Amino acid sequence: MEKYLLEKSLNIKGDVFIEGAKNACLPILAASILSNGNTIIKKVPFLSDINVMCSLLEEIGISIIKDLKNKYIQIDTKNIFNKKVSYDLVKQIRASFLLAGPMLARFGKVSIQMPGGCAIGVRPIDLHLKGFKALGAEILQEHGVIEINAKNRLIGTEIYLDFPSVGATENIIMASVLAKGTTVISNCATEPEIVDLIEFLNKMGAKIEGGGTETIKIKGVDSLNNCEHTIIPDRIEAGTFLVLGAATKGELNILDVNCEHLKAVTSKLREINVDIEEKDNKIFVSGKNIFKNVDIKTMPYPGFPTDMQPQFMSLMAIGNGTSIINETIFENRFMHASELGLMGANIKIEGSSAIINGVEKITGAKVKATDLRAGAALIIAGLCAEGISEISDIYHIERGYYNIEEKLKKIGAKIRKIKE
Ligand code: EPZ
Repeated sequence: MEKYLLEKSLNIKGDVFIEGAKNACLPILAASILSNGNTIIKKVPFLSDINVMCSLLEEIGISIIKDLKNKYIQIDTKNIFNKKVSYDLVKQIRASFLLAGPMLARFGKVSIQMPGGCAIGVRPIDLHLKGFKALGAEILQEHGVIEINAKNRLIGTEIYLDFPSVGATENIIMASVLAKGTTVISNCATEPEIVDLIEFLNKMGAKIEGGGTETIKIKGVDSLNNCEHTIIPDRIEAGTFLVLGAATKGELNILDVNCEHLKAVTSKLREINVDIEEKDNKIFVSGKNIFKNVDIKTMPYPGFPTDMQPQFMSLMAIGNGTSIINETIFENRFMHASELGLMGANIKIEGSSAIINGVEKITGAKVKATDLRAGAALIIAGLCAEGISEISDIYHIERGYYNIEEKLKKIGAKIRKIKE
C-alpha cells in the first residue's frame, strides 16, 4: 500500500501551475459521445478518474488518443456502439453516471449500473432520473441496473430541479441537446464546470443558452459535429494550494487560474487576514499575518464550495479562537475531523456543523484519507504538524491532484511516498 510521509514544512515558497479542472473534464469527456469526427480536448489532467472515464468511452467503441506530455486527448466516435459498460469501471467513479444522458440522446436507450454512494454521502440520482423521465424516457431500475429507454426521440420540456445538482444539470443538458424541441431547466447548478460543458457542446453545434445562470435553455438539434476545446483551470486544486500557502505561513504564486471562479475562497481567506493579490490569471498568497477565526457555510456556486471545506478545517485547526463550519451539501463530509483529531485538533461535530477550537499546535500521526478533499486536508495538516505524519489510502488524493508530490516538493514541502 502506498503512503505519504510528511514533515513540518513552514515558509514554503514558489510557483504552482494549476491543471485543467477534473470536474469539467469528466462531463466533457462524456459529452464527446455526442460528437462526430475528431474532437480535441486540451489541458487534460491525466488523473485516475480521467483515465477511468476514457476506458469507459473505449468500451463503447470510441477511439481515444492521449498525449500525456502535451496534456490533450483526441477522440473519434466513428466506431461507436451501444453496450452496457462494465461494472468494475463504473463503480470506480461516480461520474460514470454522466454517460447516461449522452448515450440516451445518441442511442435512444442506455443500460448502466447504479453508481452507488461514496464516503461523503448516499449520492442519489433521483434528479437525473426525474429529468430523463420528463424528456419522455421510460426507466426500469432492478438488480442495481438502470434501463433508460426513450421509445422514440426525446421531447423537449420544462424541468425544475429540487436542488441545483451539478451532475443532474449536466446529465439533463446532455440528454436534451438532440431532443425534439426546446428544454428549459430551472433551479439548475451554475458552477463554472457546467459553463465549460455548455461551451464545449455549443462549439459542436448545440444551441444552449443561460450557462452560469439558474435557468438553462436547450434548443434540440439533429446532430453535433466535432470541436477543439481547452478545459478551464481547476478552481479546487487552486484553492487547495492557496490554503496550503496560508497554513504553512508560506508565499506562493498560483498560476493559470481563473480568479473569478475563486471569489468565495479568496474573500474567505482575506477575512481570515491572509494576504491575497490577484493579477490576470495569477494569485499570490502569503500566510505571514496573524489569522482571525471565521465561520463557513458551504453552498452551491457561487457560494463557498463544499470541495474546499476540509482544507479550511485544517487551516482553522491551528490557532486560538473558535470557527464553525456548516456543511449544507453532503450529509457525511466531516470524516477528516476525526483524522485531524488524531493529530491533536480540537473539533466537535454537531449535526451538519463542525466546531473547531483552535489549538496551539498539532502533532504528526498515522492518518487515513477518507475521500479526495479530506486527503488534501490531511496533507495541509501534515505539513503544519510537529513531527512526522503518515497518510494512507492516498489513491483518493491522486484521483484529484495531478502530480501533487512533485508540485509540493518543488515549493519546499517535505513529502515523500513510500510503499509498504
Ligand atoms: C459534483 O458532484 C462534483 N463531482 C463534486 O466534487 C462536488 O462536491 C459536487 O458536485 C458539489 O459541488 C463532479 O463534478 C465529478 P451534486 P455531484 O449532484 O454532481 C444531492 C470532488 O471532490 N443530489 O451537486 O454528484 C446530493 O445528495 C467531488 O471533486 C440529490 O439529492 O454533486 C448532494 O447532497 C466530490 N439527487 C447534493 O445534491 C440527485 O439526483 C449535491 O450533489 C443528485 C444530487
